[in-house]
Amino acid sequence: MDKQSRLKIAIQKSGRLTDLSLDLLTRCGLKFSRGKDQLICHGENMPLDILLVRDDDIPDLVQQDVADLGIVGLNVIEEKRLSFEKAGIQPLFEQLMTLDHGRCRLCIAVPDEFKYQGAQSLQGKRIATTYPNILGNYLKQNKVNAEIVTLSGAVEIAPRLGRADLICDLVSTGATLTANHLTEVETILESQAAIIRTPLPVSDSKQDWIHRLLMRVDGVQQVRESKYILLHAPRAKLEQIKQLLPGSESPTIIPLEGHPDKVVIHAVCRENVFWETLESLKKAGASSMLVLPVEKMLN
Ligand code: PRP
Ligand code: ZN
Repeated sequence: MDKQSRLKIAIQKSGRLTDLSLDLLTRCGLKFSRGKDQLICHGENMPLDILLVRDDDIPDLVQQDVADLGIVGLNVIEEKRLSFEKAGIQPLFEQLMTLDHGRCRLCIAVPDEFKYQGAQSLQGKRIATTYPNILGNYLKQNKVNAEIVTLSGAVEIAPRLGRADLICDLVSTGATLTANHLTEVETILESQAAIIRTPLPVSDSKQDWIHRLLMRVDGVQQVRESKYILLHAPRAKLEQIKQLLPGSESPTIIPLEGHPDKVVIHAVCRENVFWETLESLKKAGASSMLVLPVEKMLN
């Protein structure tokens, strides 16, 4: 297969989304080896290569058709969309699906000793951020006049360096804020990862792989918490037992040989099955319960 027909997917080189994105691609069946400081990883068993780049560059790379696909946070997508709009460029990259990983929030955070009493406390202050457009809109909506100090990274140390009074940055676990003596006071955007694609038409073979990849991503997301459960149940308690199965749509019911009063239930539960659930099922009359992990699912 020639180079042009290989699909390229851009992901964050180092940061919150890196391991999650590589793990997702691995679960989709991609085999690759990742060398230190490598910028491109070639897929060994699929015509798919991974570009490792700064997350802020991903929408541009997809917009410019350097990468066909990208995995990036909604925070970066929204910031880029606003900055393209401002520059009179139409944002053409297309959002294909959101992912259930990379949840975080864009927050205003202040030094621990700062007395915050609502958005008006931001009046006249200097706010460091890598999200000047999202922050600008927020300030406008709240009728606050403040100075936006746009940085390209290490925002959390700006107050200590005297470059800003407070910051607007992404928070996921909150560890970065705590380590820098900052407190979160407002959430201005909720975010999670998403897959974006180039606006340009791609070859049929690439299109086919995009489709297959999305189906697999969907399957991976569906099984993440899923469990396969098998149990014996008294016919008379069937309805009650079905109600107790967490997040299962239509369990398969099979007669149990030699026990006309009992059935075997097979069900895929879309949520984790905890000991408490098994105990309630047992109380309701279920027996011989088996809970198995689900490895793959394709609908
Ligand atoms: C964000 C943010 C903080 C960190 C917060 O960085 O800038 O550094 O995550 O996470 P925590 O609350 O779990 O400590 P990101 O991974 O987006 O990288 P980047 O800012 O370098 O693009
Ligand atoms: Zn970034």
